[in-house]
This record gives sequence, structure tokens and C-alpha cells, in this order.
Amino acid sequence: MQIFPSLLAADFARLADEAARVEGHADWLHFDVMDYAFVPNLTIGTPVLESLLKATTIPIDCHLMIEDPDRWAPSYAELGAGSVTFHAEASRAPLRTARTIRAAGARSGLALNPATPIEPFVDLLPAFDMVLVMTIEPGFGGQQFMDETLPKIRRVREAIGDREIWLQVDGGVTDDTIGRAAEAGADVFVAGSSVYGAPDPAAAVDRLRALALG
Ligand code: DX5
Ligand code: ZN
Repeated sequence: MQIFPSLLAADFARLADEAARVEGHADWLHFDVMDYAFVPNLTIGTPVLESLLKATTIPIDCHLMIEDPDRWAPSYAELGAGSVTFHAEASRAPLRTARTIRAAGARSGLALNPATPIEPFVDLLPAFDMVLVMTIEPGFGGQQFMDETLPKIRRVREAIGDREIWLQVDGGVTDDTIGRAAEAGADVFVAGSSVYGAPDPAAAVDRLRALALG
């Protein structure tokens, strides 16, 4: 059970300090990239990734909520992101993009919006190291966990079988919802507001992990 605090809920003017607040507790840092096109919001990209990689030893998990990830995803891997996840809805060549990410030395991730089924992608799973089931509509932090996505988490877990593929959930993960996601089969939990909105983010990470373990 791994907890990935989402920097979207951190102070973007003090990213190095915000990373340090969860060091030794967070397994990875989740880095949300938005482009005003795939989602109605704009965040950070490769220049900030480059700076952050120099400022922390925690591995960085890039979640690309962008159009044309086939063009842009490899650059995040080449810069040194440990994991690069792109959206199935936005990719025209998911297999090629996954291979390019891996060839650059990063883990490859496939993200599915709440309305996107896993079934058309089951045969592609060997090309991926992680599947991200969005448990909100992407674009903003602080939204409510969508219980409608629980059956899909179960189906993804079933499709993964005994492969070494992580199953990540992102959106609305809190003390109240993490148990349901874990029970459905998730093993990697992105948490934004429930970590950086807490008075002690490191303690929030530890508490979430304990609750995921049940
Ligand atoms: C939203 C991002 C999430 C966001 C989650 O589209 O992908 O990573 O930070 O925020 P919370 O945990 O507050 O729902
Ligand atoms: Zn995210």
C-alpha cells in the first residue's frame, strides 16, 4: 500500500519545502500536469519538474492530463520522472507511448477517466507498470470520491491478475474513502487535500496508509 501526496494541493511557490514535509513518509510525489485543453485547468510542466527533481530525493510520479501525450509524455521520462502516466482518452498510440516512456527509464502508466472502461485496454496491460483509475473527473483537487468507480477498480484488479502492475486511484481519497478503494483492489493512493490540507501532512500520510492496510 503506497501513498502518493499530490502537489496540486501544496503551495506551488514553495514546492521544495512541501516535498520535504512528507519525506520519509510519502512513497512518491504525485505531479499533476494540466494544459487548459484536456482539462479546464492549467498547472505545471517540464521546467518545474526539472527544478523539483534537483530539490527532492522522493521519486516523482507525473500524471499528464494533457492533449497529445504521445508527443509530450516522453520528455517527462527523459528528464528523470520515475513514472509517467497519460490518459487513454487522449492517446492515439498508447502502446508506442508506453514503450517510449519505458525506454527512457521510467515506469509507464495508463489513466482512465471515470467514464472510460478498462475492457478495450486489457490486451495492452503488459506495456504498463500502473493503471490509474480516476475516482473524480480530472481537473481539480478537493472533489468528492465517486463510488461509481468502485466496480471498475475491481475489474482492473481482476484483469491485472498476477502481473506486477500497480493499481492507482486519484481523487477524493480521504480517511473516509481510502478503505473502500483498497477493498476494491487499489494499492497506490494519490491524496491531495487530505495530505496538504492537514495540519501535519506526514502524519496524514501515515494514517492513510494504516487505513488502506485495514
Ligand atoms: C485532479 C488531480 C488529483 C488531485 C487530487 O485532477 O489528478 O491528483 O490532486 O486531489 P484530491 O486528493 O484533493 O481529490
Ligand atoms: Zn492526479
